[in-house]
Amino acid sequence: MQSPGPAFLQPRSVAADSPRGDTYNRCMPDPTRRFSLAARLIREIDRGLRTVAASNVAARPNPAGNSAETVGEAASRRHAASLMRVNHAGEIAAQALYHGQALTARDPKVRAALLEAAQDETDHLAWCEDRVRELDGRTSLLSPVWYVGAFAIGAITGLAGDRTSLGFVAETEKQVVEHLESHLHELPEGDDRSRRIVEQMQLDEARHGADARHAGARELPRPIRDLMRRTARIMTGTAYRI
Ligand SMILES: [Fe+2]
Ligand SMILES: [Fe+2]
Repeated sequence: MQSPGPAFLQPRSVAADSPRGDTYNRCMPDPTRRFSLAARLIREIDRGLRTVAASNVAARPNPAGNSAETVGEAASRRHAASLMRVNHAGEIAAQALYHGQALTARDPKVRAALLEAAQDETDHLAWCEDRVRELDGRTSLLSPVWYVGAFAIGAITGLAGDRTSLGFVAETEKQVVEHLESHLHELPEGDDRSRRIVEQMQLDEARHGADARHAGARELPRPIRDLMRRTARIMTGTAYRI
């Protein structure tokens, strides 16, 4: 549970306790709004630091469960660890996108749905991190870059309006499902522990996309979808190595 932050940053209502009444409120800038945005920004910076720098804890059990470790050969372990590092980096970006979009979402229901989906992404993040460590690998050195870049993209997308923002979620999740499908083929044969994680992630991402479409997602123009695909390709190629 996130801390609500310092008391002076909490929303205040001048009208509720002021004898100055409506005239005052019409003439003065709305301090509630400014403080609320400041509080939310501070919370987001705190959340971003914890996502990138601290160990994330999943709310659900790791889908790998007690399945046996079958990847023994050094090159296969390195390859599997690199693929799971890519997925971990993708989950860092997913967290940041959802939180950036939630920050600028207009409808409180849309904001709540984005934050709920982000909780699933925390599970994915923790599972991928566990698997990377099991394979004696490390997570991407560029995690802070993925977070900051994706957060900015999410916040800007949110400003374009809730239906466009939901369209961005739907398209992102569609592309992530395809990407995870390719990893199911690329992972070393018999790597059940990684596969179980990736399969559960795929189910969750498909649900996030379907939820966004049901909530009124607007389909994004083709050039934007292509740009998203190219950006994701650069990111996954880089995270495989760094
Ligand atoms: Fe995810
Ligand atoms: Fe997702």
